[in-house]
Amino acid sequence: MLDLRHFSARQLQPLLQEESRRWRQHLLWDYTQSSRLLLEYMDSRILPGYVALDHGQIRGYCFAVYEANKAILGDVFASETGEPSAFDVEEQMLSHIIPLLQETPGIDRVESQLLLHPSGDHTATFERAGFQIYPRLFMLCDVDSLYACTSAENPPPTPAKFELRHWQSTDLALAGELIVRGYHDHTDSLINSQYLSVHGAMRFLHNIVQFPGCGVFDPTASWMLVDRASGQLAGLALCSIVSPESAHITQLCIAPELRRMGLSRLLMSHCAAALHRRGLRSVTLTVTESNHSAVELYQQLGFSTHHRFDAMVWLR
Ligand SMILES: CC(C)(COP(=O)(O)OP(=O)(O)OC[C@H]1O[C@@H](n2cnc3c(N)ncnc32)[C@H](O)[C@@H]1OP(=O)(O)O)[C@@H](O)C(=O)NCCC(=O)NCCS
Repeated sequence: MLDLRHFSARQLQPLLQEESRRWRQHLLWDYTQSSRLLLEYMDSRILPGYVALDHGQIRGYCFAVYEANKAILGDVFASETGEPSAFDVEEQMLSHIIPLLQETPGIDRVESQLLLHPSGDHTATFERAGFQIYPRLFMLCDVDSLYACTSAENPPPTPAKFELRHWQSTDLALAGELIVRGYHDHTDSLINSQYLSVHGAMRFLHNIVQFPGCGVFDPTASWMLVDRASGQLAGLALCSIVSPESAHITQLCIAPELRRMGLSRLLMSHCAAALHRRGLRSVTLTVTESNHSAVELYQQLGFSTHHRFDAMVWLR
């Protein structure tokens, strides 16, 4: 088990290619853009992490990033080829990186969402280290069904008090405020501490909109509902393209006082129309299993659970 910073992007490329194939097969996600970004970081040798070597061959890697007083365990992945099993190699890497993060001075929170790993995969290891586990769903719908289900050809009328418009680059602060209000006392703000402050929520949104880590942001399929009188944001739906055939809803949020009025359905209808126009075939999203209102909404819209994974959080 060696420090990740001994290795160059070139050395890790074959492993990341294998991982990209897995993302594509399991999650319909073209991971090459994300892995390119990751390789750039690896070459600058700043990421804490480990590489598992087996007789000189790279078998697996894991990495984290630090963000103020928080560490995010970004990934743990081992190749399926060889002995011991990928699971065992991943467990060994976790037994190194978890204490490293927990013992890092100034770090009082560690978060992780291992999207590729089925729920329960490494749960016991995280629980033993004091993490809380939050099961999450990766849901999938084909664009044609969403288009039909939301009457996207002829979307429901937008209430006159709201303006429906696309995302603009100046929307970060408005959207950050909505996220903080929308996720107040919500499980997702236990999972992602960025939802707790406007500054954090703006960072979260900036990452979605600017960086290809979570697909390529698609402003034409991303919608904002603005209250004409106050200028406040009533709701938003953000969408990124994750492969030539697939899109991912990265955020959906409605102001607390405006819920249960059909506004999510309205926004999703406009997303579906834009994705349909682009000729995309499927759309995915992630949702916390205990977020019953959102799960109910997505099921009503025709989404089904394709995969279940875990979010993990440790607090000092
Ligand atoms: C989940 C959320 C986006 C729903 O937005 P909304 O505008 O209230 O949803 P809609 O009014 O369009 O509801 C459409 C359907 O979703 C389901 N639904 C929405 N809220 C529900 C609730 N509280 N309980 C049960 N079902 C609910 C219903 O089937 C509803 O249809 P109906 O009203 O005809 O029964 C909103 O509650 C929200 O912003 N929550 C906080 C942020 C969040 O959790 N986002 C999702 C993250 S993945």
